[in-house]
Amino acid sequence: MSQRQHFEALYQACADPWNVQTAWYERRKRQLLLAALPRERYRHAFEPGCGNGEMTIALLERCDQLVAADFSESAILLCNARIQRESRRDLHLQKLEVPRQWPQVPDGGFDLLVVSELAYYLSDSELGLFSERCLQSLAPGGHWLMCHWRHEAADLLQAADTLHAQMGANTALRSLVEHREPDFLLDVWEKL
Ligand SMILES: C[S@@+](CC[C@H](N)C(=O)[O-])C[C@H]1O[C@@H](n2cnc3c(N)ncnc32)[C@H](O)[C@@H]1O
Repeated sequence: MSQRQHFEALYQACADPWNVQTAWYERRKRQLLLAALPRERYRHAFEPGCGNGEMTIALLERCDQLVAADFSESAILLCNARIQRESRRDLHLQKLEVPRQWPQVPDGGFDLLVVSELAYYLSDSELGLFSERCLQSLAPGGHWLMCHWRHEAADLLQAADTLHAQMGANTALRSLVEHREPDFLLDVWEKL
């Protein structure tokens, strides 16, 4: 079973597989993540792996334009229903399998990337291409947030600590926020 089929099956079995709407861990993490974004407003953001849209709806309050993407058709439908995209011209919801597929990058680049609980599902080669494409599509001075759970699970291909250390070592980035706790890591970097 491919990763895409695995996630599709999870969403078909349950509309909220990680209890993002109700679990205290998820609700608290979302508040921390939003508070960690240094700017009050962003011009054009990209949120790959948006899932059922719980974070997406909160990001829309801070962004003029938001591209949200997921490779699961069910996740896209749930996100769409949650946000009622038809009435929002600021949300561009796309079915994409990152990093192979990527949205159109706005002129000058995105000024915010939000990668929450996604990058550890990528293989080593996908991760290399993912970080390359993130960097290429981020505007100078743009912010890149990553947030990942630190424990083990059968479908994780990367450890959160290694992942964050690798991205943080990139000399094109400087660290703005570094939040560490036993359950998850949250970093915000700025592109130089
Ligand atoms: C654990 S959920 C996280 C959802 C949301 N970002 C959050 O933090 O609550 C991971 C999401 O990433 C999506 N996903 C995983 N790998 C992906 C890929 N290569 N391309 C696009 N979406 C992917 C899954 O379908 C799922 O919706």
